[in-house]
Amino acid sequence: MSQQFQHDVLVIGSGAAGLSLALNLPAHLRVAVLSKGELANGSTFWAQGGVAAVLDDTDTVQSHVEDTLNAGGGLCHEDAVRFTVEHSREAIEWLIEQGVPFTRDEQANGDDSGFEFHLTREGGHSHRRIIHAADATGAAIFTALLEQARRRPNIELLEQRVAVDLITERRLGLNGQRCLGAYVLDRNSGEVDTFGARFTVLATGGAAKVYLYTSNPDGACGDGIAMAWRAGCRVANLEFNQFHPTCLYHPQAKSFLITEALRGEGALLRLPNGERFMPRFDEREELAPRDIVARAIDHEMKRLGIDCVYLDITHKPAEFIKTHFPTVYERCLGFGIDITRQPIPVVPAAHYTCGGVMVDEQGHTDVPGLYAIGETSFTGLHGANRMASNSLLECFVYGRAAAADIIAQLQQIGMPSTLPCWDASQVTDSDEDVIIAHNWDELRRFMWDYVGIVRTSKRLQRAAHRVRMLLDEIDEFYSNYKVSRDLIELRNLALVAELMIRSAMQRKESRGLHYTLDYPQPLSDARDTVLDPTVSRH
Ligand code: FUM
Repeated sequence: MSQQFQHDVLVIGSGAAGLSLALNLPAHLRVAVLSKGELANGSTFWAQGGVAAVLDDTDTVQSHVEDTLNAGGGLCHEDAVRFTVEHSREAIEWLIEQGVPFTRDEQANGDDSGFEFHLTREGGHSHRRIIHAADATGAAIFTALLEQARRRPNIELLEQRVAVDLITERRLGLNGQRCLGAYVLDRNSGEVDTFGARFTVLATGGAAKVYLYTSNPDGACGDGIAMAWRAGCRVANLEFNQFHPTCLYHPQAKSFLITEALRGEGALLRLPNGERFMPRFDEREELAPRDIVARAIDHEMKRLGIDCVYLDITHKPAEFIKTHFPTVYERCLGFGIDITRQPIPVVPAAHYTCGGVMVDEQGHTDVPGLYAIGETSFTGLHGANRMASNSLLECFVYGRAAAADIIAQLQQIGMPSTLPCWDASQVTDSDEDVIIAHNWDELRRFMWDYVGIVRTSKRLQRAAHRVRMLLDEIDEFYSNYKVSRDLIELRNLALVAELMIRSAMQRKESRGLHYTLDYPQPLSDARDTVLDPTVSRH
């Protein structure tokens, strides 16, 4: 039997953004935080590098703002950048209060240089400003926030719950546009439950799983973007998919990330013959922004017909490497690579979705009562290329801002009345799950081949044609069979892929992460690509 639940705030997603929001709400509110699998399965847990923030006396807000604008290729919204950076110090102070064990300076360097925490560097940053917990920052943050959430009786942490779709007044044929909650598959019971809520928050992460090779965990399927689009929200800049330059290249490693902080601490990129190549591409060499480094690697791999390039940190003392990068060291050792003595084989892989659901400074989407925060959202911070470690910062700043906004609105918004149950009367159990598996595979493969680091108009047209066929098949499947996690994710991912392709086709230039051989130069006028589901395409 399906169930009905009511909460003041429904948070879909249990990563950095969702937990920050939940923890910033008052204790008298009933809050549900949903996770598709286990709570730790999201991208936050896997983040290695850290959080960018202005913490050192020699650094300034202006410098962080300028670096972000430079990396963003003319498309960052300066007000969003300034808002985020200005709130960076208080976001870090809040994390420290929550018990996040950031690496201290004396721990990292064996001395006490005055500032309490160690700051590392990453591409595009002109200062050391990445606060981190060795090379497992995401795990440290997630563990601390989860521990806090578990201590709060008003926060219900619900695992194995997959949101199927948002419930809006429009969907129910009522007057108004407000979001009233969501239909959610309980993977334990197999039933789709109804979650009514005064406020609903999408914190579901990005959509890098749309690509065959990705640094992201399996759940990065663009669920929030797809649900928001179906509910009537605009999305922006979905053509800007960031490829992390350095993921471990090894047949058994499922795209294990090699943190950019290695390059921040001096690691060099080399060809198989040991030659460095980044100086040929950018004066910032290995610390150029990611779009430039990933494209340079892609170029060299194609030019020489090689499977990977190498990241070399062997010139640093072994003790330094083991102290700063224990996770990378251990993981590579597990694959037979001792990074203190051998260069690491690396390739680029899809890493971050710079576009998303359009929101303002409080995380409001176009649908009243619906917020989007973190990678799901488009705040304008990242422009055409996200600068390393700005994204975790965005989760905390906007998570806290959205919580403050919800608190300010509590008086005016009541609980929705009982909502209709999910109608499963017309569907049966699927006997053809092979279709889902095949379509998953096909989608990710053609997105990698046709909508990857280097694009052309012809490749995009091919991708557009294929994704339309897949969407038709998936729609038919969805109308006839009971929902499962795989089907829900595939439906979302295919829709987001279609939006990405459409966005890429609209951009007749190369800028930041969108590089096409047909329009290799940027236009003089930098504009966002905004798609609006309420505007007919014909
Ligand atoms: O390289 C990294 O550790 C990743 C950082 C980021 O994506 O911000």
